[in-house]
Amino acid sequence: MSDFVQHVPQGDVHVLRLNNPPVNTLRTEIRAGLLAGVNAAKAQGAKAVVLIGAGRMFCAGAEMTEFGKPRQPPSLTEVFDAIEGFPGIVVAAIHGSALGGGLELALACHARVAVAGAQVGLPEVKRGFVPGAGGTQRLPRMIGPEAAAKIIVSGDPIKATEAHKLGVIDAIIEGDLEAGAVAWAKTNIGKTFTLARNRTDKISGQDPAAYDAVVAGLLKRTRGQESPKGCAEAVRASFTMPFEQGLQKERDLFSTLVAGEQSKALRHIFFGEREVLRIPGMPEDAKSLPVERLVVIGGGTMGGGIAMSAANNGVPVTIVEMSEEALQKGLARCHANWERTVSSGRLSQAEYEKRKALLTGSTDFEGTVAKADLVIEAVFENMEVKKQVFARLDKAARPGVVLASNTSTLSIDEIASATSRPELVVGMHFFSPANVMRLLENVRGAKSSWTTIATATEFGKRIGKLPVLVGNCDGFVGNRMTGKRTPQVEKLLLEGCLPQDIDKVMEGYGMAMGPLATGDLAGLDIGAAVRKARGTVAPVADAVVALGRFGQKTGKGWYMYDEKRNRLPDPEVERIILEVAEKMQVRRRKISDEEILDRLLLPMVNEGARILEEGVAYRPIDIDVIFINGFGWPAFRGGPMFWADTQGLKTVRDKLARYAEATNDANLKPTALIEKLAAEGGTFAGMGR
Ligand code: NAI
Repeated sequence: MSDFVQHVPQGDVHVLRLNNPPVNTLRTEIRAGLLAGVNAAKAQGAKAVVLIGAGRMFCAGAEMTEFGKPRQPPSLTEVFDAIEGFPGIVVAAIHGSALGGGLELALACHARVAVAGAQVGLPEVKRGFVPGAGGTQRLPRMIGPEAAAKIIVSGDPIKATEAHKLGVIDAIIEGDLEAGAVAWAKTNIGKTFTLARNRTDKISGQDPAAYDAVVAGLLKRTRGQESPKGCAEAVRASFTMPFEQGLQKERDLFSTLVAGEQSKALRHIFFGEREVLRIPGMPEDAKSLPVERLVVIGGGTMGGGIAMSAANNGVPVTIVEMSEEALQKGLARCHANWERTVSSGRLSQAEYEKRKALLTGSTDFEGTVAKADLVIEAVFENMEVKKQVFARLDKAARPGVVLASNTSTLSIDEIASATSRPELVVGMHFFSPANVMRLLENVRGAKSSWTTIATATEFGKRIGKLPVLVGNCDGFVGNRMTGKRTPQVEKLLLEGCLPQDIDKVMEGYGMAMGPLATGDLAGLDIGAAVRKARGTVAPVADAVVALGRFGQKTGKGWYMYDEKRNRLPDPEVERIILEVAEKMQVRRRKISDEEILDRLLLPMVNEGARILEEGVAYRPIDIDVIFINGFGWPAFRGGPMFWADTQGLKTVRDKLARYAEATNDANLKPTALIEKLAAEGGTFAGMGR
């Protein structure tokens, strides 16, 4: 017997322990071990088998690194056939998570028990495919097609207690799971359990129209993603086809989707989000400093959001403000935000009270900072102000405490120069709203030590963020790249587009919101102030702002808004655009959707390449992960650098060169890195491999 599945007979009940740390994925050896284990239990006359996971969970699902390689037997189907053909009962005992193939394994068993804290789900849709081992056929037979579609199309896990109510889990076990599951199996030996595949009670009489209506609601928010549609189609087969045919339908959908570009993109991001945490060059022994108390300087938009993230994750946090009034305003904003979550039913009153107690405030700068284990500064974006604050922090904070800045544009090195501990200064660039957005760009200063970087990384993870380490430069990675897109938006408006044409293309691509609608949300006056400070102009945007159209906050910007904040194209904006174009003697023409997309994405790709050349980002995947988690970029497109690879870097180079000339924009001249990769027939993904 392989070490991957341990076979432990306990009288009539045989335990099979999945042992493939850390998450017991169903790699070939596990499948083989399960098949051999079930057959051995049968040969040895066992009356019941309990499947359980060793370590922290039951099973996280298929081994995705085996995808795309020749399949090694046995298949999961063979394993499931053995389970379903077992002459007694096979019981899955679930702790931690049973996800994807892990849940499908459990669904093929005669019964399932779980600890109350476990969760189950079929997240395949999030990797761009459908459950491929019967999940879309067995789950509907257990809980009905509509309930199953909700779980499978969303991919979100549900708690074991909820699964118990739905009928997926037969019993919740208290105390030790293995002992409890073995006892449960013993008392149920000889009882009849109808296998999911043989059940018809939940699917017979399903009205296809009612199912389609539920699915239409579920698919509304999935934009251009293919896998949710595939999931809905597979579940539909559960009540329109016999079991075996349904399985075949599911298998066909799986094979098509898994080979597609979207699934490759989603898996690229799935693995990428793990890879970005492995920081090249970080010594093995670099240790993060313990943080018992966080102090946030400034309780404005960002400071409040950062403090909430800490409290949401159980970290005691104190906000320091300049005046009692500003402090109370800041705290009240956090409380109101939590209260909204309570009213919507997404947060319990008890959890709210807990978070509220963790969040305190003070106007005593020195006294509070002296107690901090980590300080994150989020005061006004002004170098003089920041330097004053850091000089004061340096004196007030205990020696060895890391001082972080949430600056979005200023140099971390210059900020650090105001202290006597530049090695302990780092950027921690959160994104707005900071209590919601997962991205955290940690900015490495020239002198930041590995301990400091490890502390920013670990603390970021602890408060629910995805930290990506970047280098110090204006705008860091994300804002620097989107900054190169903005001039093209202005040019496209002049040359023939209207705001809605541009947003339609970007939203069609899958962006949460197009750039002009985003501008209206953030406030157009902000961009105008930046242009003024930098001495740049954007004739169309400036003309819009000159009319007091600052965006949603003034009721109109690039669009006008109705009372429900629905955006509507505004003839006044069209008039402004036409006027400016005429004044500048730009002949307007019809611009294709392809050109709009290229002219918005290619400048970002080019800047991304420059960022790689400079070493500001370590790897292309860091850039992709930044865009997916901080800029509303659709994960199923894989991020800007992945997108460039799918276009082919030769095409990217040729188009960039063409647009650089046509739009007279030196920024679009292909970078040396793109020239080199295009000449070699290389890709971003292949760099360094
Ligand atoms: P904000 O104006 O909403 O908040 C700043 C707060 O800091 C104010 O409440 C102010 O009273 C307080 N403050 C100023 N000096 C202080 C001092 N010496 N001691 C204590 N409190 C002090 O500004 P916001 O938007 O929160 O931005 C803060 C920082 O975060 C800036 O560096 C900004 O660039 C950065 N940032 C902003 C983002 C955004 O979307 N708003 C996104 C990412 C970073």
